[in-house]
Amino acid sequence: MSGAQRFRPGATGRFRLGRKKGGAEMILTVTLNPCIDHTVKVEGFAPGGTNRILASRSDAGGKGVNVSAALKNLGEDTRCLGLNFRQNGAFLTDVLRSRGIDCDFAEVNGALRTNIKIFDAATGVMSELNERGPEVGPEALEEFEIILERCLPGASLLILDGSVPPGVPAAYYRTLTERAAWHGVRTVLDARGELLLEGIRARPCLIKPNREELEEAAGERIVSRRDAVRAARRLIGLGAGMVCASLGRDGALLVTAGEAYFSAGADIPVRGVQGAGDALVAGMSYAMVRGLPLPEILRYGVAAAHGSLILEGTQMCGRGDFMKMLPRISAERMD
Ligand SMILES: Nc1ncnc2c1ncn2[C@@H]1O[C@H](COP(=O)(O)OP(=O)(O)OP(=O)(O)O)[C@@H](O)[C@H]1O
Ligand SMILES: [Mg+2]
Repeated sequence: MSGAQRFRPGATGRFRLGRKKGGAEMILTVTLNPCIDHTVKVEGFAPGGTNRILASRSDAGGKGVNVSAALKNLGEDTRCLGLNFRQNGAFLTDVLRSRGIDCDFAEVNGALRTNIKIFDAATGVMSELNERGPEVGPEALEEFEIILERCLPGASLLILDGSVPPGVPAAYYRTLTERAAWHGVRTVLDARGELLLEGIRARPCLIKPNREELEEAAGERIVSRRDAVRAARRLIGLGAGMVCASLGRDGALLVTAGEAYFSAGADIPVRGVQGAGDALVAGMSYAMVRGLPLPEILRYGVAAAHGSLILEGTQMCGRGDFMKMLPRISAERMD
């Protein structure tokens, strides 16, 4: 079986292979629930007491935005689509533009939600306070869908990543996956709960649950790698083409109906775990649009995740680190 055939299990003949000649196609990412991550550093966090802030920073965030940032660093053409908020959304678009990342957001009344992260330097523990964000109405979704329809014909892949704001239906990722399929574009889905289970029914080519998300979706406890493969195949039975089960420090698996690969990763100094899953999605997508075979898709993903893990905060993998990591990452066949 050729590499190009291998990475599209379950796909029909309508889906395009790899990229168009000349590489004109781009990877689209969707962020429906962007946010501002406000991180403060304290020494010995005392709940109920007065805490002195040693350092603080604000970053524009969102899972799809992270994936686009990693893809851009790897040298891949990408565009961020989704929803943004009128009141302070310029914070997000300015950051993207300064990094040379194209974006096209439907604008919604209200402000970007803020997620406060309290990092206790004494214990290394991060406490998070996440806002729910403003309600989104059907007009905003219609505007977003018009943008998506305009962009899909030039896309090599659609990546749906993260939660959705209040007002967005639980079956929304399913709808978007179906729209992409209509244009012959495959979808990668990284979400949890109903968003994931509903989305799977539209047959995304890849989903990327972490251990907790996989346990929740498959309704099974996962202790061993074998458990993860079994749970992944349960989701394949529901419609997913491939499942990448990311197991944090225990590595990652890439599972299809007939094959399973495992990558333990490499021994690296871990400086920031946030966004490792998004970098994993970016690396795998980068390999998929190049028509690489399954073990390579997994290796590229894990190399990108490692390139992100060695950087503090949510910073995404750079191309130099990715190239250095790649030879250190292996993927072994499991069955
Ligand atoms: N502490 C760690 N040590 C080594 N590798 C790690 C560690 N954490 C993550 N990884 C690598 O990064 C991959 C993705 O991480 P993880 O499973 O935590 O994703 P995630 O929970 O989806 O993350 P997020 O949603 O915050 O981006 C793992 O499969 C593994 O290869
Ligand atoms: Mg994740």
